[in-house]
Amino acid sequence: MTVSRTARVAPALLLGLAGCGPPPEYPPDLAFPARADRLVLRVPTAQPAGPTDPGPLDAVLAGLDARGGKTLDPAAAPPEAREALARFLAETFGTPAAPTVAADGAADLGLTPDRLAEGGRLYRRSCQHCHGLAGDGQGPSGLYVTPRPRDYRRGAFKFVSSGDGGKPRRDDLRRTIRDGLKGTAMPSFALLPDDRRELMADFVVYLGLRGEVEYRTVAAVLADDGDGTDGDPTGFARDRLADIFAAWRRAEDAPPGPPPPADDPDAVRRGYELFTAAGKTDCLSCHEDFGRKPTYRYDVWGTAARPKELTEPGYKGGDRPENLYHRIRHGIQPVGMPAHPTLTDSQIWDLVRFVRALPYPRELPDDIRAKVYAPEFRVSGFEFRVPPDLPQPEGLRHRSPG
Ligand code: HEC
Ligand code: HEC
Repeated sequence: MTVSRTARVAPALLLGLAGCGPPPEYPPDLAFPARADRLVLRVPTAQPAGPTDPGPLDAVLAGLDARGGKTLDPAAAPPEAREALARFLAETFGTPAAPTVAADGAADLGLTPDRLAEGGRLYRRSCQHCHGLAGDGQGPSGLYVTPRPRDYRRGAFKFVSSGDGGKPRRDDLRRTIRDGLKGTAMPSFALLPDDRRELMADFVVYLGLRGEVEYRTVAAVLADDGDGTDGDPTGFARDRLADIFAAWRRAEDAPPGPPPPADDPDAVRRGYELFTAAGKTDCLSCHEDFGRKPTYRYDVWGTAARPKELTEPGYKGGDRPENLYHRIRHGIQPVGMPAHPTLTDSQIWDLVRFVRALPYPRELPDDIRAKVYAPEFRVSGFEFRVPPDLPQPEGLRHRSPG
């Protein structure tokens, strides 16, 4: 029987297109590089004038000190301490080709050598060019997208639904990887099978654990008042691993948020009042002119983040009311957006209703619409105003298929 050339080629081609070929192996002798880039301990109090320049971060981070920030160069650590830490990291976390987490309870978080090895291969294919081999966010493509890909080594994440310690739950990582982060280079991997996304999530947790142990130990070795590890970087690193591990566990065990309440016609108004209430929420202090004004803020990585332009729809951490509930309740810690632990659930839901209505003038009560969309409220320099009930031009109207 003869099989046509197309029939033979097609399945291979399809597999290739769907990214289903066996993921690439890491070279067996490849080790994770020791951290060489500066640690950002404190960012300047004066906020950045604009977005961070593209390209390698070294110069950007070194420049923070001159502006009143504090960064540390790992090369300044004594060689013995660096060697002891490198040995500890290799013994505890293995290598890219043979990753492991030698800690009690690692399997409960899915961090078994088999899963990690498979997750690492998938990560190498789909994530590493942005997020980097060790998860530093400085892969070759990562240097030229803004905002920058996440540097997992700080152990800090933005879109979390657990308030404790800023670690994401598994569900948060699932959402990020499945849906991507809207408006950024972080793509959606929704078309990959669930089990592959799970394996990649395991590998993100792994790189986060490893990188944070390294970060905290190097920072302690370089502490101002002498070696904060008391001359025992290995013991210090082991204790930090236990703490950090416990924080990931706590995030997983935290109770989920409440379900959204039934619609209430007055919720948007109450949300507007809370949003604009100085001293209570201070939303406007960062989201100036409802976010139209591009005021940047330093994030914990020493790069610039722009408070969301809230008159435009679409949210990085998800559009559902539940997603926004968590943003407001727990804040976005790495960029300094505060948590709101003292607001009641119904106050948070009112803010959510207002935030979700804000981009759609017709969803706002008349008097509030006039305040949000009136020219005198615009400090960003645009004097024109789109009337809320401007009819859509014929050509732009949504066309239904067929
Ligand atoms: C084209 C570049 C790119 C690729 C490829 C990419 N990411 Fe990202 N990723 C980003 C950017 C950019 C951000 C940060 C956006 C921001 O902070 O606003 C990010 C952030 C994240 C975050 C942090 C979310 C949080 O809550 O802080 C996780 C987790 C993540 N990516 C996982 C992955 C995984 C897993 C893959 C591969 C399956 C991947 N990314 C592939 C660019 C990328
Ligand atoms: C200290 C500054 C600050 C304050 C105060 C603040 N935010 Fe933010 N907010 C930010 C920054 C910065 C971002 C952008 C984070 C990013 O995308 O990296 C943001 C993002 C957001 C987002 C977008 C989340 C997403 O998934 O994309 C929402 C919604 C939001 N803020 C609502 C609020 C509300 C409501 C309040 C008041 C209760 C508030 N913010 C107070 C700084 C602040």
